[in-house]
Amino acid sequence: MHLLDDILFPRINDFALGEATTPLRAEVAGGARGKTLEIGAGTGLNFRHYAEGAEVIAIEPAPGMHERAARRARSPEVRAPVEVRDANALRLPFADAHFDTVVASFVLCSVKDLDLAVAEVRRVLRPGGAFRLVEHVASPDPSMRTWQRRIRPVWTRLLGGCDPVRDVRAALGRAGFSIEGIRNVELPLPGIVRAGIIGEAVRGG
Ligand SMILES: C[S@@+](CC[C@H](N)C(=O)[O-])C[C@H]1O[C@@H](n2cnc3c(N)ncnc32)[C@H](O)[C@@H]1O
Repeated sequence: MHLLDDILFPRINDFALGEATTPLRAEVAGGARGKTLEIGAGTGLNFRHYAEGAEVIAIEPAPGMHERAARRARSPEVRAPVEVRDANALRLPFADAHFDTVVASFVLCSVKDLDLAVAEVRRVLRPGGAFRLVEHVASPDPSMRTWQRRIRPVWTRLLGGCDPVRDVRAALGRAGFSIEGIRNVELPLPGIVRAGIIGEAVRGG
């Protein structure tokens, strides 16, 4: 067992991304329909927001996070069936066009290859399927972006690879998603990761 990965990160995750993010999670996970994949589910903070009728597979590779997520999936307040699996968003073990919805919250900052992860999401979504997400991103404010770049080396090292300066909207566009349903949002997080996007990107045919 690793102190940092298995004990500290799950607790830091639940503290930093806990109660204040509830309305964002309710919007993103609450709108999932049909066969749903959640990538990088962490400790399972989205699970109680899935509506009845959704069938959820949640993937999470970090053992400490996974263990908490598996426990949360069995909580009585979780209304949809949620199966937690150990898998990597860069090599999704699912057939093309298998899911109606994919959900991600605060994950695309830490995947090792953003374009590959988004391409994998697109591959497993059916045409017309929805990628529902909330993510912190590179700030639209140039002076904040400069600070994000300055702090990035330390931040990334301390926080499990979390990159504060990613342009997730551009990556969605490059992968061929329609991004009209994505809007900017101010996240209830420290200034360096306060700039966010939320909404639904749709897979074209
Ligand atoms: C900041 S946590 C967010 C967890 C959760 N989504 C939430 O909203 O609380 C980022 C999560 O992404 C997971 N992650 C990072 N790279 C991943 C990958 N390649 N595939 C799947 N999950 C990944 C990490 O293990 C971690 O649990």
